[in-house]
Amino acid sequence: MSKVIVVYWSGTGNTEKVAELIAKGALDKGASVVKKTVGEATVAELADYDIIAFGSPSMGVETIEEAEMEPFFSNAVPTLKGKKVAIFGSYGWGDGEWLRAWATRVRDAGAQLIGEGLAVHETPDDASSSKCIAYGEEIAAS
Ligand SMILES: Cc1cc2nc3c(=O)[nH]c(=O)nc-3n(C[C@H](O)[C@H](O)[C@H](O)COP(=O)(O)O)c2cc1C
Repeated sequence: MSKVIVVYWSGTGNTEKVAELIAKGALDKGASVVKKTVGEATVAELADYDIIAFGSPSMGVETIEEAEMEPFFSNAVPTLKGKKVAIFGSYGWGDGEWLRAWATRVRDAGAQLIGEGLAVHETPDDASSSKCIAYGEEIAAS
């Protein structure tokens, strides 16, 4: 059984909803899943998990959230080599550029990115909710 930790930041609840659906998909496939906001998590505890899923909306100008998620992720980078890592989040008016840039950082850290990550427009609708659950399933099976 794979051990998954989902660490996310969400301002208005959209990324939180994505995190919940990803967790559901992974749980349904038999993974054990811990879900925490970035404020609740520590970089040290990431070492206890096989798979780390990071979630952040697109903020600033196509960046991950800068006050909490950016320092957390930066501190985690040296620990990600050889790890399986998923990234996800919600965006508004852009085209998902923040997630592509984040994917590059994950790969540059020597981690194994699961798929291409998952970008969801604003609040997940029925179609994107299905994609969130499917990404959770993919995470559990990775
Ligand atoms: C300060 C701020 C900056 C944002 N910058 C971007 C951006 O660069 N590109 C984009 O597509 N959406 C941007 N958005 C929109 C959010 O990514 C979008 O509303 C998202 O659904 C918020 O997710 P959350 O509910 O998890 O906070 C921004 C929103 C805020 C509040």
